[in-house]
Amino acid sequence: MTTPGPGRLRPRRLRRTPALRRLAAQTRLHAADLVLPVFVREGLDAPRPLTSMPGVLQHTRASLRQEAARAAEAGIGGIMLFGVPAHRDATGSGATDPDGILNLAIADVVAEVGDALVVQADLCLDEFTDHGHCGVLTSSGAVDNDATLERYAAMARAQAAAGAHLVGLSGMMDGQTGVVRDALDAAGHQDVAVLAYAAKYASAFYGPFREAVESQLHGDRRSYQMDPANRREAAREVAIDVAEGADVVMVKPAMSYLDVLADVAATSAVPVWAYQVSGEYAMIEAASAQGWIDRRSAVTESVLSIRRAGADAILTYWATELAGWLAEEL
Ligand code: PBG
Repeated sequence: MTTPGPGRLRPRRLRRTPALRRLAAQTRLHAADLVLPVFVREGLDAPRPLTSMPGVLQHTRASLRQEAARAAEAGIGGIMLFGVPAHRDATGSGATDPDGILNLAIADVVAEVGDALVVQADLCLDEFTDHGHCGVLTSSGAVDNDATLERYAAMARAQAAAGAHLVGLSGMMDGQTGVVRDALDAAGHQDVAVLAYAAKYASAFYGPFREAVESQLHGDRRSYQMDPANRREAAREVAIDVAEGADVVMVKPAMSYLDVLADVAATSAVPVWAYQVSGEYAMIEAASAQGWIDRRSAVTESVLSIRRAGADAILTYWATELAGWLAEEL
């Protein structure tokens, strides 16, 4: 009679010591794979803390430069800029004004860090429109896809002229990747890369971002962002964006969409990034502040899980802090 038990098969062998666990780890985080999203507000005298995103600020142009310098010092891979204008209008004219806050901020950050970070800009109209939608509206109030594409083309030219290394198309208009690629090429910006937010879902987890950009939106974005119920549709969006010339595709949000991320990562020929969005940040910060979860382990585990699901790089509001922890662990 043999005693019941694991016999020779003992997975715990590789978990016994920190050294064994470290060598057996199948996923690793690197500072170089992290991108920090940041907000810069026109007309601020001093950086302004965000209530729903503890630790995140609306920056002035000067404090943004310091934040970018810190990010470069920490060795992260890039920075994604979001502009918050003081004035908005129906077509989001601040987005294409060379003196608009986002375009000025791009030039500021490039002047500060040069090539030490990949300087990226959000290419979307919602921060600049007085109705808060990601595009321009028809007379009946619907988001006008093709008229919006002309605005995106102009925005891409303005961001490239300001020195952006990569533009992040987050508007979910059909045809946006191809139109922006053509606009950049025609203006001599063949080297500016296009990140397509290929699978971007209409998510409740963007809530705190609305405070960060002082969103004017009433209603929702379900007529252009994807339905959280849809998995297969992500493959279609990715295929279209890659065919239109996307250099990188993104899945967003991250934590509630790890299945989608794993699907895309398994098949994409271009790099796949994921965006750990404002609501994901806020949930972990809020629970940590209550003492309900351990902040550092929860943050690390959450970003690691996104990496494990297949993200080549991750946009996260913890990028600089996490890079500091990774350096400590070395
Ligand atoms: C659109 C944009 C949004 C986010 C990034 N780009 C808002 C939206 O689509 O409603 C959300 C990011 C976050 O929640 O952290 N410009």
